[in-house]
Amino acid sequence: MKVEKVAIIGMGYVGLTNSVAFAKYGFESICTTTTQSKAENLNKGIPPFYEPGLEELVKEMVGKGLLAGSIDNVDAVRKSDISFICVGTPSLQDGSTDLSAVNESAKDIGLALKESDKYHVVVAKSTIPPGTTENVILPIVEEYSGRKVGVDFGLCMNPEFLRQGSAVYDSFYPDRIVIGEHDDKSGEVLENVYKDYECSKIRCDIKTAELIKYASNSLLATKISFANEFSRICEKFNIDVYEVMKGVGLDFRINPRFLAAGVGFGGSCFPKDVNAIVSLANKMGVETPLLDSVLYTNEIQPLHFVNLIKNVVGTLEGKTIAFLGLSFKPNTDDIRETRALPIIRKLFEEGARIKAYDPKAIKNFKKLTDLPIEYHKKWDEVLRDSDFAIIQSDWKEIKEIKPEDFKKLLKTSLIFDGRRTYEPISLISKGIKYFGIGWKNEYCARKQHLSCQSS
Ligand code: UDX
Repeated sequence: MKVEKVAIIGMGYVGLTNSVAFAKYGFESICTTTTQSKAENLNKGIPPFYEPGLEELVKEMVGKGLLAGSIDNVDAVRKSDISFICVGTPSLQDGSTDLSAVNESAKDIGLALKESDKYHVVVAKSTIPPGTTENVILPIVEEYSGRKVGVDFGLCMNPEFLRQGSAVYDSFYPDRIVIGEHDDKSGEVLENVYKDYECSKIRCDIKTAELIKYASNSLLATKISFANEFSRICEKFNIDVYEVMKGVGLDFRINPRFLAAGVGFGGSCFPKDVNAIVSLANKMGVETPLLDSVLYTNEIQPLHFVNLIKNVVGTLEGKTIAFLGLSFKPNTDDIRETRALPIIRKLFEEGARIKAYDPKAIKNFKKLTDLPIEYHKKWDEVLRDSDFAIIQSDWKEIKEIKPEDFKKLLKTSLIFDGRRTYEPISLISKGIKYFGIGWKNEYCARKQHLSCQSS
């Protein structure tokens, strides 16, 4: 079977960036959303969120007639040879996964297949608990289509590993493609869609593919919490955790990535997915002491950061703080689970006044909290006359602030780096009083007392 047309249900990071990649690889792609204005804007070449390189590609693909937005799932699936379910699977109160959008998508696919007699492959790409594709999606599609899996339609699970901020790049150049297949034919069709993607391709059963996603995110989150736990040990010994993790990461069995200590992990995936697998495992009677600790470490890290600040400046009552970076990481306007929120909450509790800067995320952060933060579109306005600066996400714009600017604009030349945005010694040598997660803070305090000379 030759795939020419692709339906992608869901216009979020996964859905839209994959739609753009499929279009670029020559497939006619229809990307659907439930929001009329998002579909209309996409058809004018305007994506619904910021992601580097996305807008240019959307414009190009829409212009070539290879990408279209729609609010009609049934119509999009009917016109296509394969459909990808890329809808959100947020956490419910108890940490388990809300599958309502997945269920709706499966129903629409079923309705579309009912009106067609050609073979079609249904692919689940959303992050869903093991068993969901076969026990939830499959029966819904069969019920609403009146057709049989493995005969009239194929079924796959194809987890997505893209990172926000480099979602376009990751969609074109994934490390690996995991194809969980109901049967051989379904897997063949999907593998063929990816034939021009140069990376390892794994074919396995559907439940394995579903769990690979949770296991990958859990391990990456574990590496981060591990580095964060060591950052606190390092602080006590006046050792630089980045040097330690460099030494650790050079072991090829470990590798250096995701060992960057900081104020913890945020975003739409790690907190949600680790919570979901913990909740699921616990319901099945499996204890998860390791993952429980990963989550706990992530919760306490922002508060530890505030304590670190208090240890240096004393009381925060009445202090004006320049807060740099609100998004959960650079290059995205996404603020889901950003560590900025617990840090800022705590700073307000301690009586501080907050002036905040972010290149893209202010609009979204305002929706997250009504705390009386003073937002600014320029970093210099935030630094001017503040007592000290805090860095929460290491945007290029923030990295490029010069030591002279901190010295000129801040009252105290004091910065607290939650992401190792700067190389500490070079700042200290230029007269900045630098403190940060996993840094030799005691040593620095002594050094800076002696007029901030370089070591
Ligand atoms: C993550 C996974 O990387 C991706 O494979 C999956 O598909 C979705 O979840 P994303 O949430 O976009 O991607 O961002 P990522 O770059 O992984 O960072 C997540 C969080 O971890 C951020 O808050 C980041 O600042 C933090 N982080 C990351 C660290 O604190 N230290 C690190 O070493 C790496």
